[in-house]
Order: sequence, then structure tokens, then C-alpha cells
Amino acid sequence: MNTATLIKIAPDHLSEKKQNDTFYADVLAGLTANPRKLQSKYFYDAAGDKLFQEIMNCPEYYLTNCELEIFSEQTSQLVQTLINNFKAFDLIELGAGDATKSSFLLQELLQQKVDFTYLPIDISSNVIHQLQQNLPAKLPGLQMHGLNGDYFDMLKEARQLSSRPKVVLFMGSNIGNMPVKEAFSFCKALRQQLSTDDLVIIGFDLKKNPKTILAAYNDQQGVTRNFNLNLLTRINRELQANFNLNQFDHYPVYDPQSGACKSFLVSLIKQKVTIGTKIIQFEENELIDMEVSQKYALPETDEMALEAGFEPVQHLFDSKKWFVDAIWKCV
Ligand code: AVJ
Repeated sequence: MNTATLIKIAPDHLSEKKQNDTFYADVLAGLTANPRKLQSKYFYDAAGDKLFQEIMNCPEYYLTNCELEIFSEQTSQLVQTLINNFKAFDLIELGAGDATKSSFLLQELLQQKVDFTYLPIDISSNVIHQLQQNLPAKLPGLQMHGLNGDYFDMLKEARQLSSRPKVVLFMGSNIGNMPVKEAFSFCKALRQQLSTDDLVIIGFDLKKNPKTILAAYNDQQGVTRNFNLNLLTRINRELQANFNLNQFDHYPVYDPQSGACKSFLVSLIKQKVTIGTKIIQFEENELIDMEVSQKYALPETDEMALEAGFEPVQHLFDSKKWFVDAIWKCV
């Protein structure tokens, strides 16, 4: 039987007002903390989504091409692993974005008539709406159900939708946006949402020449710079603030020993910024910690799997071995 395409957008987990309150509370807490910090998950408003698309098109930003190579050239291997493990399953993608890379997998699964439902989860409601508009036309027969919200809230929702085995895709080195310790706890929490024999596929950006890495976060065109500054624009618009973007500069660093690639905004002068009813004082050269993009050595990813209750079953590399999509099974 040919099942009708199911496209449903879950109602926003939190009302818009509540989301805005959380955003405001997080921004204030972060900007009054020492050192000052903003959460990179807030980069992704409509303008931020667009800037990230542009980053992926920058010649310096190798990550996307590496993973695209893996998903476009090792698709049948990937599908083989999945059908060796399950008759039917839910394919959950955390941080689906525009699903360019995962589309190769979806297409191959459809072609091989595999019984699966695609559940993309994204923090950006914009992204989920775009997927709803574009994917069904691109991939006829696809059963999908978009979920807009935080990963774990939406994972719980996904579990309530069906009891089928789960394959969780967490691509693009999104895990890199967590400091190492947090990534460990994230994997443990992820394992707790899954059952024995479920699979996860996680994309890790691997340690490589430090200049190559730093350049990816410091592109010539200044797109990454605008991507960081856009969060200030978003705060100005959504939280009635008055950041002057000309008085902040983007400063990326990479520490090849720890593998942490970090980006900061630097206050170029001593200045006051109003956010809603609050005033924040910046000293000249004071930093706002904006983002970490953690890089790993391959054995570090295996250790993470084992520690979190998974068994690493397969490593898919690009031809340069700059990136790995690791397949882990829940033990
Ligand atoms: C979407 C989290 C994978 O950290 O490489 C790109 C975001 N930040 N350039 C990354 C990002 C600056 C990206 N991830």
C-alpha cells in the first residue's frame, strides 16, 4: 500500500511570548555573567539561517562539502547498515537545517522502498516551515512530521508519536557547539531517550591543520563575522535593545590542543547598551563569548560513544578524512 504523505507541523512547543521571555532571560543572564556570554543556538533567526547558508557556500568552510561527499557517495552503504538493522524505523534529524545532506539518504531510502518516517527537529520555526514547503515536492512519497523546538522536548514528542525503532541523525558537527563535557552529557541524555539497538549517526569535525580550521571560522568575505553580529541585531529587534554593530568586532580563535574553536565579539569602546529596561556596561576590549565549535580526534569520538552507552559500529569519512559521520548503536 502506498501511504499518503504526512506533513504536519507540530504546534510550537512554547507560545511565542514564552519563547521571547526565555530569550530575554537567557540574554540578560549571559550578558551579566562573568565572562559575558551569548548562546549560539540563538544565531538562527531567519537572517541567521540565511547567513549560515552563505557560510556553507564560503570556500573556507570545508565542513559542509566533506559531509556532503560522505552522504552523496556512501549513501548505499549507509542505507545497507540501516536495513540490516531494522525493517521499519523513524529517522529523526536533530537540527535538520535545509536537509540538503540528509536528502541523499532520504532519496535512497525511498528508492529502496524502505518503511520509514522522517522527523526533522529544528530550533528554527522558519527552517521547519521551509522543509514543509520544499521537501514533499522534492521527495514524493516521503512521510514526514516536522517538529519545532528544543532537541529533547521534541525527541520526547517523537517517542510519543510512534514506538518504532529510532535512527537519530545529528549531522554537520552540530555537536561541536557544545563544550566537550556538555557533549558527553548530551550523548548520555540522548541514549536515555532511545532503546537498545537504536542507532545514532553523529557528524564530528576532526582535528586537522589549525590554519585550515581557523580559516573556516574567519572567512575572507566576512560572512561569519556578520553571522555573529546578527545575534546583536536580533536582540535589538526582539528585545528592544540598542547595540551599535559598528562598536563590536568579531574575533575567532582556535586552540589545536583542546580542539576548541571559539568566537568572541569584542567591545571596541567603553559603552552602555540598553536591553529592554536593563543597562549593560561594556569596558573597552571586553569580550562576549559567542560560540564554540569543538574539533575531535577520532579516538575521542569512540570514547564518547562508549562512555555514553553506545557501541561505535561504523566510521564514514570524506576522502580527506577531515570529517567523520560515526554510526553508534545503543547498547
Ligand atoms: C552549524 C554548528 C556546525 O560550528 O561549524 C559556522 C556553525 N559557526 N560558522 C559550526 C558555524 C560559524 C556551525 N554549526
